[in-house]
Amino acid sequence: MTTVSIIGNGNMGQAIGAVVAAGGHSVEVIGRDAAQAPTGDVVVLAVPYPSLAGIAAERAQQLAGKVVVDLSNPLDFSTFDSLVVDADSSAAAELQAKLPESKVLKAFNTNFAGTLAAKTVGGLPTTVLIAGDDQAAKDLLADVVRAGGLNATDAGALSRARELESIGFLQLVLAVREQVGWTGGFAVAA
Ligand SMILES: NC(=O)c1ccc[n+]([C@@H]2O[C@H](COP(=O)([O-])OP(=O)(O)OC[C@H]3O[C@@H](n4cnc5c(N)ncnc54)[C@H](OP(=O)(O)O)[C@@H]3O)[C@@H](O)[C@H]2O)c1
Repeated sequence: MTTVSIIGNGNMGQAIGAVVAAGGHSVEVIGRDAAQAPTGDVVVLAVPYPSLAGIAAERAQQLAGKVVVDLSNPLDFSTFDSLVVDADSSAAAELQAKLPESKVLKAFNTNFAGTLAAKTVGGLPTTVLIAGDDQAAKDLLADVVRAGGLNATDAGALSRARELESIGFLQLVLAVREQVGWTGGFAVAA
């Protein structure tokens, strides 16, 4: 059994916790108290992008050796017109640079919370796209996701996080413009 620690107990933290629990794995919810070290092999940072730098600074040692999952969509929410990370980078790449001893994955950012809960989008199974440089880390997260009743697809190296963040950005734009619902969005057909 894998223990998944989740920092951030909002929409995504709760939805991912339910997926993990549905698969028979253990969920640990971690609050803002930096003294509480995550015990899971997998730590999901279910927080807004601006919170990532502080968590990395406070918890780098606690997160060393662990699989760390970034699900943020690093938008400029004041304009809704751009990502705030450099054009050749990503929130996940920034996080990996701040946590060199952790195995950072990008995952879940292309899934609205409602599609994690429903396990379906547009009549297809919800697919979690996972990017990262450590194959064993990706396989571990994919196993947890599949056990919870969702599909998981390996989207390649952590450098693909840039594309995943662009997809997440576009999906948000479509939802805010009411072109898709918050239980809709992009699906993956194999
Ligand atoms: N919602 C979606 O459908 C969706 C889809 C894809 C990706 N995402 C991404 O998922 C992330 C979370 O989104 P959300 O919708 O779940 O947001 P949310 O409902 O606002 O929840 C965010 C949670 O993060 C906590 N938090 C913030 N900073 C923290 C810190 N330094 N330490 C511990 N906890 C902290 C907040 O706690 P407090 O309440 O105490 O502030 C809150 O529980 C964002 O990066 C977002 O871009 C969301």
